[in-house]
Amino acid sequence: EALDASDQLTDILAIPEHLRDALWKVESAQIEPQDCPGGVVVAGMGGSAVGGALARAILGDTASRPLIAARGYGLPSWTTPDTMVLCSSYSGNTEETLACYEAAGALGAPRIAVTTGGQLAKQARADGVPVIPVAGGLQPRAGVAYMTVAALQVAALCGAAPRVTSEIDVAAEHLEALVMEWGPEGAEDSLAKSLARSLHGSVPVLAGAGLTVPLAYRWKTQINENAKIPAFAHELPELDHNELVGWAGASELGRFAAVFLDDADTHPRVKRRIELTEHLISGQATSTHVIASRGQTTVERVFSLVLLGDLVSLYLAVLRGVDPTPVDAIESLKAELA
Ligand code: F6R
Repeated sequence: EALDASDQLTDILAIPEHLRDALWKVESAQIEPQDCPGGVVVAGMGGSAVGGALARAILGDTASRPLIAARGYGLPSWTTPDTMVLCSSYSGNTEETLACYEAAGALGAPRIAVTTGGQLAKQARADGVPVIPVAGGLQPRAGVAYMTVAALQVAALCGAAPRVTSEIDVAAEHLEALVMEWGPEGAEDSLAKSLARSLHGSVPVLAGAGLTVPLAYRWKTQINENAKIPAFAHELPELDHNELVGWAGASELGRFAAVFLDDADTHPRVKRRIELTEHLISGQATSTHVIASRGQTTVERVFSLVLLGDLVSLYLAVLRGVDPTPVDAIESLKAELA
């Protein structure tokens, strides 16, 4: 019942639909292609920044120019007047993103906004800056498909990467099957439900590598915001040079569960590191899991893990008896700052 009541669930199950709708939304903005030798900076925070990082992971080696998610009040120092700055804010009222919008303007860099409205849309319209619309009525973090597709399409429009429109379409179709498998209608022992049961009561620590680095971070942030518990994300191989020691020695602090996000393209030595790391911490962690992405294209593989992580975070919220939707702590902090 708690599940039925959650609009977060509805929005997660709608990810395939959001992917398709996002393509239309970008199309509707009728943005002229513009060659940007300086690459693309996606300026945004939280749920609106993750799309830039996921787009980067999806494009991988096919990106011929930098594509970077910038989370903060300023643009990277290498931003030039021929870098596209995509200002990504679901609400359009995030002060860090508005500061980047201004900074890009001062630099004379081309800008595009992706938002539902707010100050960002208002300012962009006044400045003649294109606005990519996003479906309203979601929590910003549930708009992940919109923000990712916008970043992918803008990268293509700027000559930074090939178009992946058809891959997005095909991925949306294949993801429908995963929605059935992992969603509430799926089996009680589906991967999503059993993983949530296994993580319940422990602090989840996520590990990504290569393509799955931003996914480990997405799982962490979704677990934070939906299940309302601490969770941490790091990446391999780096974590084998530091965090491993903390995990292996954590017995008296106890209760952490490790999740390694794996992919077909994970470096063979990293695969070996996952096995060994799992073994080394098995006495300390309450459980360890290696979860592989599903599908063929990188769009599909990335979104398979977005979907799974989002569902796991939601099931964790249900197991904890908390409402996944509100993020009161974020709202009150924003209000204090205003
Ligand atoms: C809330 C969420 C947050 C927001 C962030 C930035 O669901 O995910 O991380 O995304 O506070 O706000 P917006 O997205 O409105 O720019």
